[in-house]
Amino acid sequence: MTVKPILKELPTDLDKSRLPRHVAVIMDGNGRWAKNQGKPRIMGHQKGVDTLKELLRCCKDWGIPALTVYAFSTENWGRPLEEVEFLMTLFERVLRRELEEMCSEKIKIRFVGNLEALPKTLQTEIARSMEDTKDNQDIEFTVATNYGGRQEILQACRAIASKVAEGKLTPEDITEELWESHLYTAGLTHPDLLIRTSGEMRISNFLLWQMAYAEIYVTETLWPDFDRQEFHKALIDYQRRERRFGKV
Ligand code: FPP
Repeated sequence: MTVKPILKELPTDLDKSRLPRHVAVIMDGNGRWAKNQGKPRIMGHQKGVDTLKELLRCCKDWGIPALTVYAFSTENWGRPLEEVEFLMTLFERVLRRELEEMCSEKIKIRFVGNLEALPKTLQTEIARSMEDTKDNQDIEFTVATNYGGRQEILQACRAIASKVAEGKLTPEDITEELWESHLYTAGLTHPDLLIRTSGEMRISNFLLWQMAYAEIYVTETLWPDFDRQEFHKALIDYQRRERRFGKV
């Protein structure tokens, strides 16, 4: 068996000045990973949390200031009830367990999505974690939970339309900046790189507006196996690309 290097420092074949400032991840393949191991699906989610913790630490070590992950989509309510309940309890448990470390690691955590529909006890942990880490500045960690890109766009439309109807705004006031200030992600930079694990070539209703110019990297690797070596590969691929933003 070959021993993988730990990659604590930024690998020397990456250009520090051209790293993505914000990486978004669709963490797919937990269920398949568990199935391959002959384990129940929930074990895949459990292992997925370890992978996520390690990626967050890696972003910090390598100087990437923002990481956003898709933890639960508005469509995920359609999964078997026991899996949904497991995930909700898992989020809550992880938040409770990791909050102290997130504070000491200077991680600022933020949840985006329709949070009001989540279990009340989870909402409490979410509010506490956001409040306790709000002044942290080492890395911005955003967790999309009960999130849907279309729903985000609709709620922004409604909020702006109400202000226009009340006479607080005119249609001419609606600029990109005003629009963005009504999204769940207000104040966050747009992702430069979207990573999707487990091979699917879709963005699945994730950050539809924000992803306009993101580079997309899809790997066959299942999320629980996505380690620093895999992240390194994604960043090498990203740095090979020429980002033109519609220009020549
Ligand atoms: C997709 O794999 C994964 C999820 C829907 C859940 C991801 C959640 C975590 C890794 C936990 C994150 C925890 C916190 C606190 C942020 P899948 O079940 O769709 O896998 P499959 O496609 O192989 O079935």
